[in-house]
Amino acid sequence: MRKEQFICPYKVYDSMEELPPQDAELMRLAHEATNNSYAPYSKFHVGAAVRLANGEIVTGNNIENAAYPSGLCAERVTMFAAMAKYPGVAFEALAVTAHSATKMIDEPVAPCGACRQVMVEVEQLSKQPLRVMCQGETGPVMVFDGIESLVPFIFLDKFL
Ligand code: THU
Repeated sequence: MRKEQFICPYKVYDSMEELPPQDAELMRLAHEATNNSYAPYSKFHVGAAVRLANGEIVTGNNIENAAYPSGLCAERVTMFAAMAKYPGVAFEALAVTAHSATKMIDEPVAPCGACRQVMVEVEQLSKQPLRVMCQGETGPVMVFDGIESLVPFIFLDKFL
């Protein structure tokens, strides 16, 4: 037996304004997208924005449903919309943020496991690291330069 550990490097910026300008703009658009969120049940309004290699930006938000599992997270709405509109175009970066009607979110919102798994495949298809940036309504921004930092022991298509 041997003990091993997984290292997940990431960067922390004290605020959105400290990000490189292109990334700050992407995060600003993710914040804007929270306003389109349809979240009458959780009142947790998530916004996301992706920047593609062709320079296009696609934004999205969570969409809930009275039959709860039928809703979808902002990250997947956004990634799928980008793949539908610009098939075959590589992803460069994804920004995620949220605000809640019930409390102030001042720490980064981490994507759920299902969205991370989709990010894995998006990154593979893109053939370049996917930068994932997470923020709350305000406060620090966590930046992951590549999905491996967010998903240890990735499930890959090579297992199939
Ligand atoms: N949600 C997201 O949009 N992204 C996440 O990564 C986690 C959760 C949404 C789903 C649901 O509409 C609400 O937040 C509460 O879970």
